[in-house]
Amino acid sequence: MKTVNIGIIGGGLMGKEAAGAFGRWFTLNDFPVSVALTAVCDLNEQVLEWYKSVPTVKLLTTDYQELLRNPDIDVVYVALPHHLHCKFYLEVLEAGKDLLGEKPFGMGLEDSLAIKAAAEASGRFVRCSSEMPFLPGPQRVIREVQSGRLGQVIEIRAGFLHSSDIDPEKPLNWKRQVKFCGEIGVMGDLGMHVLHVPLRLGWKPKTVYAQLQRIITERPDGKGGRAACDTWNNAILNTTVEIDGHNIPMTLETKRIAPGETNTWYIEVLGTKGGVRYSTKETKTLWTFRLDADDQLWQRTDLGFKGVPFPTVTGGIFEPGFSDCFMQMLAAYVAERAGELKGRFGCVTPQEALESHYVFAAALKSFANQTVEKVTYE
Ligand SMILES: NC(=O)c1ccc[n+]([C@@H]2O[C@H](COP(=O)([O-])OP(=O)(O)OC[C@H]3O[C@@H](n4cnc5c(N)ncnc54)[C@H](O)[C@@H]3O)[C@@H](O)[C@H]2O)c1
Repeated sequence: MKTVNIGIIGGGLMGKEAAGAFGRWFTLNDFPVSVALTAVCDLNEQVLEWYKSVPTVKLLTTDYQELLRNPDIDVVYVALPHHLHCKFYLEVLEAGKDLLGEKPFGMGLEDSLAIKAAAEASGRFVRCSSEMPFLPGPQRVIREVQSGRLGQVIEIRAGFLHSSDIDPEKPLNWKRQVKFCGEIGVMGDLGMHVLHVPLRLGWKPKTVYAQLQRIITERPDGKGGRAACDTWNNAILNTTVEIDGHNIPMTLETKRIAPGETNTWYIEVLGTKGGVRYSTKETKTLWTFRLDADDQLWQRTDLGFKGVPFPTVTGGIFEPGFSDCFMQMLAAYVAERAGELKGRFGCVTPQEALESHYVFAAALKSFANQTVEKVTYE
């Protein structure tokens, strides 16, 4: 079995999550490709220190070009602050490596266009990270929609909510400043996660009316003073999608200050004959709606681990979590790269990442002008 050698640039929160998934790759049942995390680049020596306990890692460096020059590395996972996405993604491709880039795939539309163009020109295998849809619940939502059991779709609601920013005394970092995470703020942070399933189902917003909020505008700067926190904390995008010739409202929520929420990803699709609803708040639960002669019935199905696209040793009745769906996403990347996806759900494509940026760009315009904006995809 061929081993794919992986390098990581940006070894922080998500770099470590990826390392964890690669480290238990052998738990995937009959998976056709093995992987080895062999190199990590980060500017922070303490971060690099953490990777010394990963047995497959041969190169730890603060110089990303050293990693890119290494001929043994096949795929680079880049998990860097958003202002670095475009530069690093392009350099990974120029170095002849395949790329898994973190969302939002650039600071804004311009970056995303450049990344997609470079991906096409390079011929390399390029995908964008978004893991939640790999859980069994979202997979079942997709199947329900595709089954036709919902009848005519009436309404779609999807969102990603957490409260990482609810504490006003939490110090400022790159995630809370426009210069590092772009004008799109929370939409860049959470929007790709929310749009992954709708875009895959062919639901591309035609119009958007955006409500954007800056709620906490100043924070400790970590040096004893205070500094401006200028990102959008929360965004509600009221969009319209066309399904079977009908204009359907689709509401997309992305919130970094959502009281009571930690990492709640949800989707609900209602139709004339049925409905389906899933939220990570009830990780194991799928809700499906149907009508019978007398009643309107919401039925609760207890899901287990069964239904992940890439089965593992984990028992079918056990519950999945964040690290599981992240590993499933990495498995989808590696399988698709090897031509082994076999109809299973795949990672976000550069085209889908670009489409999300068209929506966010129109949302910024909508909020600035207080208008309903057409979303144009060129
Ligand atoms: N898929 C998800 O669920 C998810 C969750 C959180 C973050 N993210 C995304 O992952 C990316 C990284 O976020 P994070 O939370 O891991 O951030 P982080 O701040 O924890 O990690 C970023 C790392 O990059 C390093 N770094 C910064 N500049 C560098 C440079 N020039 N060269 C090498 N290393 C450098 C930093 O030292 C840090 O260790 C972002 O795009 C973010 O949106 C995705």
